[in-house]
Amino acid sequence: MHHKPLVIANWKMNQDGTDLDRFLHRFIADTSAALQGTEVVVCPSYVYIERTRSIIGDAPIQVGAQDVAAEERGAYTGEVAARQLSDVGCSYVLVGHSERRALFGEDATLVNRKAALALRHRFTPVICIGETAAQKEAGQTKHVVEAELQACLEGISPGDAKKVVITYEPVWAVSTSAENSGVGDTPESAQVVHKFIRRTIESLFGASASSAVRIIYGGSVRPENVGGYAKMEDIDGVLVGAASLEALSFSKIVKSFIPDV
Ligand code: PGA
Repeated sequence: MHHKPLVIANWKMNQDGTDLDRFLHRFIADTSAALQGTEVVVCPSYVYIERTRSIIGDAPIQVGAQDVAAEERGAYTGEVAARQLSDVGCSYVLVGHSERRALFGEDATLVNRKAALALRHRFTPVICIGETAAQKEAGQTKHVVEAELQACLEGISPGDAKKVVITYEPVWAVSTSAENSGVGDTPESAQVVHKFIRRTIESLFGASASSAVRIIYGGSVRPENVGGYAKMEDIDGVLVGAASLEALSFSKIVKSFIPDV
């Protein structure tokens, strides 16, 4: 692990207001000591961002958005702009999640524009990349990951590259994916890809960016398997979907990064 562990909850379109009130009160009470040694981010639906921020209060938890518009402002019905997210207290934004790509047609060019815009607004963009089951079977994992990194980070300066978070999230390992019934990549195999991502960042942006960038793993992370990822040298944290919906489960995941708590 190169950094303070980063643990992100992606609640997708699941938590409603009552769920998240209950979740946050329990999670904060149960996790308080571990929160000091980790960076924890929760990503509710847009409509609950302000409510989430206000319940969190002074607790050291950041709020992220699950997406951001690629445009600054204007006639884009249904979109939410970076400056609006900033206004309601977001500091992170997910971009290029595999569900956005598969279900809403987002490609690397759009992800690149969103990441660049997020950086201009001083967010930490969390850029999700990863191969499908067919690409994995065809032995294309590294090729896909390298091409995605080049395309998603196109035009970004080495200074800004240090600020992004890359999530390696194999599409086949996401628990809601049609290809998967809840089995993630093994920690050892994820580590190989994470190391490759770090080397690719080094060749694109230099050694200082590659050691500064945080690379986290996502895809069927659970309290039972997170320990394996937490031990890996190039895995700086996790992005958690299903197992982040329940406070005690997410709390266990956060605590597993701080063995002494
Ligand atoms: P999962 O989702 O943990 O349910 O596999 C992860 C994600 O989609 O971000």
